[in-house]
Amino acid sequence: MPIPETEKQTLLETFKAFLRIPSISTAPEHKPDILRAAQFVADKLRSAGLQDVHLMEGTGHPMVYGEWLGAPGKPTILFYGHYDVQPAEPLDEWISPAFEPAVRNNNIYARGATDDKGQVLIQIEAVARTMARTGSLPVNVKFLIEGEEEVGGESIEAYVKSKPARLKADAAVVCDSEMFAPELPTLCVGLRGIVYGELHITAASQDLHSGVYGGAAPNPLQAAAEIIASIKGPDGKIRIAGFYNDVQAPSDAEREAWARLPFNEEEYRQKEVGSKILVGEAGLGVLERVWARPTFEVHGIKGGFVGEGAKTVIPAKAVVKISMRLVPKQKPDVASKQLAAAIATVCPAGVIAEWKPFHSAPPCVVDTANPFIEAASLAMEKIFGNKTVFIRSGGSIPVVGLLQNELGLPCILMGFGLPDDNLHAPNEKLHLPNFYRGIEAVELFLEEVCKS
Ligand code: BES
Ligand code: MN
Ligand code: MN
Repeated sequence: MPIPETEKQTLLETFKAFLRIPSISTAPEHKPDILRAAQFVADKLRSAGLQDVHLMEGTGHPMVYGEWLGAPGKPTILFYGHYDVQPAEPLDEWISPAFEPAVRNNNIYARGATDDKGQVLIQIEAVARTMARTGSLPVNVKFLIEGEEEVGGESIEAYVKSKPARLKADAAVVCDSEMFAPELPTLCVGLRGIVYGELHITAASQDLHSGVYGGAAPNPLQAAAEIIASIKGPDGKIRIAGFYNDVQAPSDAEREAWARLPFNEEEYRQKEVGSKILVGEAGLGVLERVWARPTFEVHGIKGGFVGEGAKTVIPAKAVVKISMRLVPKQKPDVASKQLAAAIATVCPAGVIAEWKPFHSAPPCVVDTANPFIEAASLAMEKIFGNKTVFIRSGGSIPVVGLLQNELGLPCILMGFGLPDDNLHAPNEKLHLPNFYRGIEAVELFLEEVCKS
């Protein structure tokens, strides 16, 4: 049902209140904010009319659960989202502060606006509106909202594995992805997996004067550079033995569908990436490179002197933060072992390099031959007024693999973000019309799915 202007104002105020909570999952000092965000979600679920709403607190950040099972004989939909957000740094790049939501040009700017607080609210508000209008829901619903998605936390895995009965459903809806273009309703049908970890490199027993010892002492930062450059060179090929063995190429039908998407490589380079050139493997299109090829990326290098000015030191150790994105048929455990072996092979003499994996998630592809995808596709189409496109995404959402592999659930990745939303970057935003249309689309989905 269309949302009247007055109600939009109320929805916006709720959204802003949620965005003001700096629920950064990686930062221990934000633990109280994490708890506040979880409680905010629980309160919203309760006021939407859900039952048995509670926080599940364990060693990690709390998960929030809620359900409404008043439609016997009708399907049960499990809704998933995450209330945790990425750190906001670099802070001085934000036009308005990251946790002081500001509306400009019909966009709301704040960390978490699109990833994933806006999309968590879309799901809850859709249920709340249906409930308020009709006094019930056309289908049964369960909500599982977590606070460790951005750090690959283990709570959700333990929960999904230990509580299969509680999460029993006919399908899962995950609102945590993007539309391919504005006005183009999109269902995401593939995600890359990930292996994230640190490479610890040690050399001398302590930091050394670079003039007195330079020329004799090994330098772990130099070693880091050599290791990184031996694993991936300018041709974009990842030189890890066996790494591509399990990579499954997209089908011809999928490639053809991607070729029909409205994609302009030059515009993508200028407007989204903002670089002089695009890199990567020769002979493959951009969409194939970011959706269907694995990666090796360095996210940060710690070591030596990084303060203002100069200091002549040969550091004793260095740490490199690394991730590999994985594509269908690659296995995180296998890839992680292959990387460890590759590091051992290329590690220069005189230093010790140790790979420490933190977390991982498998790649996934979504089966589209089910009535839930049909219902979602139709609902999106009706609200956005265009035919729904099916795309993959290069990002990872660990829970999707779990829901598919552990619970056998069909997953519907119904996302309302846009390509220029700046997720994980400064000036993250959500396009407000998409916030409201998202709510309407999920409402319509609930109606459509009831018919299946
Ligand atoms: N929502 C994103 C993933 C995403 C982005 C999916 C765009 C589809 C389109 C998610 O919050 C995310 O950032 N995931 C992390 C996972 C990791 C830390 C385990 C990622 O992809 O880096
Ligand atoms: Mn997300
Ligand atoms: Mn994210």
